[in-house]
Amino acid sequence: MVNSLSPSLRRIVVLGTGGTIAGRAASGGDNIGYTAGQVSVADLLGGIEAPEGLELAAEQVAQLDSKDMEPDVWLQLARRCAFWLAEADVAGVVITHGTDTLEETAFFLQAVLAPGKPVVLTCAMRPASSLSPDGPQNVRDAIAVAATPAARGVTVVCAGAIHSAFDVQKAHTYRPDAFASGDAGPVGYVEEGAVRRMRDWPESPARSKLLEAGEGAAMQWPRVEIITSHAGATGAIVDLLLQERAMGVAEPVRGLVLAATGNGTVHHVLEAAALRAQDAGVAVLRATRCASGRILPRPDDKLRDAGALTPVKARIALMLELIGTAA
Ligand code: SIN
Repeated sequence: MVNSLSPSLRRIVVLGTGGTIAGRAASGGDNIGYTAGQVSVADLLGGIEAPEGLELAAEQVAQLDSKDMEPDVWLQLARRCAFWLAEADVAGVVITHGTDTLEETAFFLQAVLAPGKPVVLTCAMRPASSLSPDGPQNVRDAIAVAATPAARGVTVVCAGAIHSAFDVQKAHTYRPDAFASGDAGPVGYVEEGAVRRMRDWPESPARSKLLEAGEGAAMQWPRVEIITSHAGATGAIVDLLLQERAMGVAEPVRGLVLAATGNGTVHHVLEAAALRAQDAGVAVLRATRCASGRILPRPDDKLRDAGALTPVKARIALMLELIGTAA
């Protein structure tokens, strides 16, 4: 449903993708035994008032449990964001999304859109059917951020905090305040519809060229696997992936992200396998498993590092790099 408006009105477009925020359980007291992605985004907006001078429009882009997110959905979402952001009367875009891979979608959208207007993802930890759902307040807060004149870039709004797409991570399995921004801290807070900003809005030096592929064009996503370094790690998975490549499988591995310990260190057996992969032409990137901090490079590093990116975000950065569209 997209409303047609008088040109003097400004719009906030709310794109639905599913998640717990759109989830339903058999009983209002059940906050975990629900099915995600059941309620339409138009229904999620029922009863939510637009800020003065603004009108809300809704569009359902997907309806899924975000654990099952796929890059093709990211691309479709990025295209719909780009379409709406290009409309002169659209102040910003809000996206309702599951919490489980929210940070990946946010990072992808920041990389490919680097938007000069706000794109605000929001979510819920309790389903829409809950006796006390957190979704409606999160949506109101996200709309408030999207309506903030100076806002820009991709952010995540949850439990009153605004997080940058670069820093946000899901940090709790159950509590409504499930997201954190590590050392960087939140961009700001939403209090009774007003934004209290603590630091700059997210900004990218450039945007990836992914959307230039054109509306409707299918994308061949490079296969990038994440392998964790841990006590007793082996290189067995890396060697199997290299064997697959040698056998000429349809989608050979093209990149590896090592979820490394501490300051980017990797178990020596896994590191040896990763160096074999790198020698065979596989792009290898180390990202830290630590929840906070960044990898400080050393002159003798043989494998590139992903700085402050978490393994899942480093994987997206490497995918974009491999398709030649990195920012
Ligand atoms: C999902 O990520 O879609 C389900 C879990 C959630 O939204 O909290």
